[in-house]
Formats: sequence, structure tokens, C-alpha cells
Amino acid sequence: MTVKRAAELLSSAGSGLALTGAGISAESGIPTFRGEGGLWTKYDPVKVASIEYFMADPSAYWTASKERGRVALAATPNPGHRALTALEAAGHLVAVVTQNTDGLHQEAGTRTVIELHGSGRTVQCLDCGHREPRAAVQARLDSEMPPRCLICGGTFLKPTVVLFGEALPQAPMQDALALARAADVLLIVGSSLVVYPAADIPAVGIRAGARSIIVNAEPTPLDRLADVVIHGRAGDVLPEIVDLIGG
Ligand code: APR
Repeated sequence: MTVKRAAELLSSAGSGLALTGAGISAESGIPTFRGEGGLWTKYDPVKVASIEYFMADPSAYWTASKERGRVALAATPNPGHRALTALEAAGHLVAVVTQNTDGLHQEAGTRTVIELHGSGRTVQCLDCGHREPRAAVQARLDSEMPPRCLICGGTFLKPTVVLFGEALPQAPMQDALALARAADVLLIVGSSLVVYPAADIPAVGIRAGARSIIVNAEPTPLDRLADVVIHGRAGDVLPEIVDLIGG
């Protein structure tokens, strides 16, 4: 019933907007942060993913980030990512706003992806600004800890992601809020919706009159405001919605 209702809402959407979190990449093998088996149930985020921690000791940061980097670089899009690409191609979504830094939406062929928390696919030297692919830095981690800048030799190579304690880049956030205000349907997938300001986006859209659909493995604080709530796996539910719409 609810999947059918979600398909009905999306099939008539003209300015639909998707907001995604770590849950959509869980079936690609990348652990989420919260909920069952989440990274933050094992590590203290302030201790391993804050700008303060990075600046204090880049090698400790890279040691903690090494395994997650390997998993994220090896990951490929799953049916959940591809279903959003199909919904965009069919004109039901104008964009995907994501909290994820894994680049899997782009790899799945989604044209308009707004990355609120940056991209984990690039690394930048904080001394000279030189950028290089994460994959190249990842390959050096067995022999070089912390990794050094190839240009200036500096040891403050930081992934171009937003760490705790850092401000979000303004432009993607403003773009996401504007799209949320203009959205007729919001599709919120795989996020615990407890991290701000990202979690403001669906609230702004709902207040502006958008209908909302939540697809998440566990309950979220926004469930009570949503029109349709589906507690399930994105990789199962989203393709089913696309099939019902006839994508
Ligand atoms: N399908 C759908 N939902 C899933 C799946 C799945 N296969 N697997 C897990 N989930 C749900 C979990 O139940 C959880 O509620 O996805 C949600 C993921 O929530 P978080 O781990 O909190 O991820 P997210 O909301 O993206 O976190 C926001 O917090 O740690 C920071 O910067 C990080 O971008 C991240 C932000």
C-alpha cells in the first residue's frame, strides 16, 4: 500500500527532490554512521572525524580513515542509486541532494547531484592547495603516514569533505534549500535525519507544501510529518517504486 502511494505521488511529480544519506550506500558495502552497525557506534566521531582532530594529528586521522577509504573507493552503485537515476531521467526528480561523500550517485548516472558534505574522491593540501584523487593518496598510505603533498611535501592532506567542526560550503546548501522550497514531492532516503543543517532541508520543503516520502530502515524524527513512511531497504523499495511508475 505505502509503496503504491509513494509511486502515485512520484509519478505526478514535476519538481521532485531526493535527499539521501548513508543508508542508500549501505547495500554497496559502505557502513552507515548511526543505527545498527554504524561507524559512530564503534568510534567517537569527534575523535576521528573532526577538523580539530585532523589538524592535531593528520596521521591518526588517516590511520582511522584508511579502511573506510578503501571500502568507499571499491564500492559501486546499487539498485537504490540507479532507481534515483531512473526517476530523474523520467522527469520526476530535478536533483539528488546528498549527505554522502562517496560519489555513487554520479557513478550511477544521476545528472544533478548536490553534495552537502563535499566529496571523498578528492584530497587537498591545506598548505599549497594542490588537489589529487583520493585513490592516489590511498595507494600511498601503506608506505607514507601521514601522506605528503606531491608538490610542497606538506603533511596536511585533507579529503575535500566537511569534517565535524567545519562549516558547510554555503552554495550547495542554498541550492538545496531553494530546490526544497520549490519541490512538489520530497523523497528522503537512508538518513537518520539528526544531523543539521542537512536535516533542515526536508522540514523546509514540507513547510513550503511539498508532499513527502521517507524510505529508511529505521524510524526517523520526521516520520510523523511525512505523507508516506516506508521502513525498508532502499535497494528493494526504490526499484519497486520505479517499476510501479513504469520506469
Ligand atoms: N536502506 C535504507 N535505509 C538504511 C539502510 C538501507 N539499506 N541501511 C541503513 N539505513 C538507515 C539507518 O537505519 C539509518 O537511520 O540509514 C540511516 C543512516 O543514518 P546515518 O548513519 O545517521 O547517516 P546520515 O543520516 O547520512 O548521517 C548524516 O552524519 O556522520 C555524519 O557527515 C556524516 O553525512 C553524515 C551525516
